[in-house]
Amino acid sequence: MSSHPLLVLGVETSCDETGVALYDTQRGLLSHALYSQSEMHSEYGGVVPELASRDHIRRVLPLVRQILDSAGLSLRDLDAIAYTQGPGLAGALLVGASIAAALGFALNIPVVGIHHLEGHLLSPLLSTPAPAFPFVALLVSGGHTQLMEVNGFGLYKLLGETVDDAAGEAFDKTAKLLGLGYPGGPALSKLADEFFRLGQPKHFELPRPMLHSGDLNFSFSGLKTAVLTLMHKHEMTPEIRGAIALAFQEAVVDVLTGKSLAALAKTGLTRLVVAGGVGANRQLRSSLRHKAEKIGATVFFPELEFCTDNGAMIAFAGAMRLREMPDRDKRMDMDMFTIHARWDLEMQGLSA
Ligand code: KG4
Ligand code: ZN
Repeated sequence: MSSHPLLVLGVETSCDETGVALYDTQRGLLSHALYSQSEMHSEYGGVVPELASRDHIRRVLPLVRQILDSAGLSLRDLDAIAYTQGPGLAGALLVGASIAAALGFALNIPVVGIHHLEGHLLSPLLSTPAPAFPFVALLVSGGHTQLMEVNGFGLYKLLGETVDDAAGEAFDKTAKLLGLGYPGGPALSKLADEFFRLGQPKHFELPRPMLHSGDLNFSFSGLKTAVLTLMHKHEMTPEIRGAIALAFQEAVVDVLTGKSLAALAKTGLTRLVVAGGVGANRQLRSSLRHKAEKIGATVFFPELEFCTDNGAMIAFAGAMRLREMPDRDKRMDMDMFTIHARWDLEMQGLSA
């Protein structure tokens, strides 16, 4: 299987985005499409799992048809299907799993379950230049904040992670406090950047939790309390809101940057890969670039559209797994319907 080109359909339905993509091991990414449910959930201030599952059911097949049409291909051309097997919302994951299983069964092709974070982790490899192994990966999404040492496909070692909220979750919760709606990360970041561009002197300084803890773990839940304290102390004018947003963003960016550099120092590696939704944050990108350059390290980011959840990273991870781990994936055929709402990325190893 490894010597022939493979055309893989990727299906991502772990949360509130339906993502599909076609990845060809020879020609690269052929086509991809995404439907975000965020408008539907914004009414409720967060993702409503049952609504998410039902909407995935409506979206997946039309999106698959759309990307096949735009690539001038048909279902018969597919060699394999990769879907997000976990972690995520159980009902939402089941939609992707059952559609992948049904298509795989009908077409008699392999179906590969992919760890959502492995998808994020490998997403910078869809860009040029792609980072070579080994590298340190900073995974910063709505559900996870982790530093990993990545020595190859399936060779992931956890270096540190958040002990409470994920970085994206902290952005979302703080944004909610500031009345910015859901999902709040991009809105908070926009507000912070706008305030920064005004060039005003610094109003507030928030703590940098665990920056000097001596390990590679994170803690973000205290920051929203610090924000709340500021909000109680000041009249919430647009200027104060902007200043708080900036102070919050600076604190998170400082901690993520500091710990990422510490991970590079600890492992002796010189390549840093940033993945997950918070990787779209402009200030984080510029801080990491700037600081990494100073120590002779290089930072790799996924394309902005592949920072947040998408089908391309799942199709790509599936193609890599089929190429690198054909034996393991034959076994996976047997339990196509398995999903893991909670799932440890280190269990993805080649020897597992
Ligand atoms: O990776 P992702 O799409 O989904 C998960 O797997 O969680 O990440 C979504 C998270 C959300 O918490 C969202 O607020 C955050 O990424 N996010 C951002 C930005 N864009 C998305 N946070 C800060 N700045 C951004 N520009
Ligand atoms: Zn994600």
